[in-house]
Amino acid sequence: MGTLLNGIRHLPDYLDRAAQERLIELVRIVVAEAPLYTPEMPGTGRPMSVRMTNCGSLGWVTDRQQGYRYQPFHPVTKKPWPAIPAELLDLWERLAGYPKPPEACLVNFYADDAKMGLHQDRDETEFAAPVLSISLGNTCLFRVGGLNRKDPTGSFRLSSGDIVLIGGEGRLAFHGVDRIYPGTSMLLKNGGRINLTLRRVNS
Ligand code: SIN
Ligand code: FE2
Repeated sequence: MGTLLNGIRHLPDYLDRAAQERLIELVRIVVAEAPLYTPEMPGTGRPMSVRMTNCGSLGWVTDRQQGYRYQPFHPVTKKPWPAIPAELLDLWERLAGYPKPPEACLVNFYADDAKMGLHQDRDETEFAAPVLSISLGNTCLFRVGGLNRKDPTGSFRLSSGDIVLIGGEGRLAFHGVDRIYPGTSMLLKNGGRINLTLRRVNS
């Protein structure tokens, strides 16, 4: 695609295969404690195709009644989210360029037919920290635009082990996932894609 807003960086192949496998193990531990659930769009209650869970002191959730928000507990089990694994905190320290640790790690699971519409990440109060995004499993087509929904967009593929930083002037850029390419990675035995996003919520 053309030029990305300053502060949006794509780091292809940042994690090697061993690091990816380790992260999948950690995600399995998180999901055992905090199961994936199906989020609902605010207002309509329409289910999202992506299933989600979180780790961290806060997690991003959405449902029909209360909409998009961060909360300290799982919406179904009502238990506190498990802690963010040290490996992920290390990645944040290395790449985020922000002095405080992330409070939230959103875990998105995309089945091969799932997608995510164009949106901004704006439920945080701290926009000086980037969102750090990790791709695992099948490749996706990632779309990024500008700060207004109608701005032109471009797209590129994110493969297993890629990292994207959404920060700086691009922190509030519109972005989404158009599609998953089935069979493009052997990391997840049953296919699909996992995306982890580390987020600083409060300044
Ligand atoms: C998101 O915007 O929360 C997910 C981005 C991705 O799946 O790469
Ligand atoms: Fe997002």
